[in-house]
Amino acid sequence: SDVLKRISHIEVMQGLPLNEQEALAKLLSPIQAFPGDTLCEEGTPGDYLYMIVEGEAEVRRGQKVLAILQPGEVFGEMSLLTGDPRSATIIARTTMELYELNKEHFGTVLSWSPHLAWALSRALARRLKATTD
Ligand code: CMP
Repeated sequence: SDVLKRISHIEVMQGLPLNEQEALAKLLSPIQAFPGDTLCEEGTPGDYLYMIVEGEAEVRRGQKVLAILQPGEVFGEMSLLTGDPRSATIIARTTMELYELNKEHFGTVLSWSPHLAWALSRALARRLKATTD
């Protein structure tokens, strides 16, 4: 399907068994964002995981830009995994196409996909390392 083709470019999806990709695809909702839109706000509860299909977003903590996120990357995973508030603010730099996965579906997917759990842990560890370097 169209969704499957698009999510195959998401880094954490690579190597995910096809049946798991298909099951996950059914839980995703496509959204758009425009330059300046706030997608996550530091300090607020986390409710969604996002996957970037097109466009770029800025990761800010206070006044500091921590990173620029590109197509193929995910964000919003930290607060869903820890239950803590959003660690940073995410602002669209361009027009964006994304998929969002709500918190409940995120939990469901992780319970049946060790592969995805592992891929997300890896992404998380890299980000924490970059943040504390
Ligand atoms: P979360 O804390 O839920 O909401 C803000 C998101 O910003 C966070 O999840 C990560 O997805 C992302 N994020 C936080 N710190 C970094 C970083 N150093 N590099 C890239 N992304 C980050």
